[in-house]
Amino acid sequence: MAAESSGAPGGDGRAEPGRSTGARRTAGWWRRRSLRFRLTAVASAVLAVALAVSAHVMMGVLARALLDRTDESLYQRARGVVSLADAGRLPGELTSSDGTLIQVVDAAGRITHATTGTDRLVPLLDARKRAASLTEGRARFLDGEPYGIPHLLRVRVLSADRGQTVIAARVFSEVETSVATAGRVLVVGTPLLLVLLAAVSWVIVGRTLRPIAALRRGAEEITGTARSRRLPVPESRDEVYSLATTLNAMLDRLERADARQRSLVSDAAHELRSPLASIRLQLEVALGHPGGADDWRETAEGVLEDTTRLTRLAEDLLALARLDERGGALARREPVRLDDLVPQTVERYGGAVTVRIAGEGGAAVTVAGDALDLGRVLVNLVDNALRHTVSPVLVELRTEGADAVLTVADDGPGIPEADRERVFDRFTRLDSARSRDEGGAGLGLAIVRETVDAHGGAVHLEDASPGLRAVVRLPLS
Ligand SMILES: Nc1ncnc2c1ncn2[C@@H]1O[C@H](COP(=O)(O)OP(=O)(O)OP(=O)(O)O)[C@@H](O)[C@H]1O
Ligand SMILES: [Mg+2]
Repeated sequence: MAAESSGAPGGDGRAEPGRSTGARRTAGWWRRRSLRFRLTAVASAVLAVALAVSAHVMMGVLARALLDRTDESLYQRARGVVSLADAGRLPGELTSSDGTLIQVVDAAGRITHATTGTDRLVPLLDARKRAASLTEGRARFLDGEPYGIPHLLRVRVLSADRGQTVIAARVFSEVETSVATAGRVLVVGTPLLLVLLAAVSWVIVGRTLRPIAALRRGAEEITGTARSRRLPVPESRDEVYSLATTLNAMLDRLERADARQRSLVSDAAHELRSPLASIRLQLEVALGHPGGADDWRETAEGVLEDTTRLTRLAEDLLALARLDERGGALARREPVRLDDLVPQTVERYGGAVTVRIAGEGGAAVTVAGDALDLGRVLVNLVDNALRHTVSPVLVELRTEGADAVLTVADDGPGIPEADRERVFDRFTRLDSARSRDEGGAGLGLAIVRETVDAHGGAVHLEDASPGLRAVVRLPLS
């Protein structure tokens, strides 16, 4: 701790020394406690305050209620004596079963009647106090000491006919004793209750946090080798449950991405193998049978062809890697005029491709995106079509609502309905038996789909009967 705080000045130079160092140390200590400890401590502190306040209020209410009851019974007793006095039927000796002291004082200030054991010479209240008490109209406290009663008294005065006054008094200390007893019970009971509640909340918080500990253990067990492991999902449908399911969904996605990456690497390696093997074979044959310059020329041509395939494969893989890297976002987003881009791109194919742009010379067809990427989409589709078509490939561009629609149609064999989605997967070739020089690695349509997705568009293949039509929709900007 000491070493820690002595190193602190570098951390926050603005904080004033002394008090703030202590406060920061306490805050640091508090933050380092377990969640269980902090939750229990906060709950207990709140409970302690609540219990103390309610004990205090309870004591007040109890004292008030006891006082009211005493006053009420004093009043009733005095009232009874007043009725007797008014009727002139006061007995010579007043009796009291509940310990109330009664004095009846006449107009001259003499005590005419009193309960047994009560002073018959000196009234508990002198004339002035009696008058004051009468106007107050409620009971008051009186020290019993001067009258030989070693207690605090509660006194009520009522007036009767013929100037008589009735004084009723009762020892109040009994009430005080019961309030004190209740106080003692609370002073001992409240901390006990608090300790009990703190223990209960310690247990409950511990139980609540148990699934989180299980999650942590589960996460610890997930290693590079055991990828398919999942975190334990608690039975309760609570926050921990949603956390566990969310994390499991994330693990799922990571696992899928990982699997995709692995298969990409192995597929790529597989695709690289055959051109490399072919190059090697050609070179070996050439070296084994040294002939004329023609042999070398043939060899060089073969090697060049394979090298071109390798280059294309590397470029396609790079394009896919870039798309993956950006996670479905575009590197560039600028206005691209498709009505310019499409003719420019297919120019190189000469008469093999026919372009038709709806509403020619009319409004510009502009989308937001990357011109290079969109050009590659068209090239990939046209390359595919040219590979299968008999007559020239037809490329059409039109607008439809808020979309630009680009189609590439051929009259080749087409693709069976069942395979029209599958061909968009990476390294999927349908006619894999065909000669190597004709086809690529099966990445063309994958690049098309991922690029179009990144542009917020959609691509699908449909029957052009005969042949196949690729339809690309891109939102107009
Ligand atoms: N116009 C088409 N007519 C018939 N089949 C097609 C057509 N376009 C694509 N295919 C089929 O879909 C498969 C996948 O096409 P994709 O463009 O992804 O790969 P590829 O053309 O074989 O190789 P790459 O494009 O990487 O050079 C092709 O192998 C082919 O079998
Ligand atoms: Mg292709």
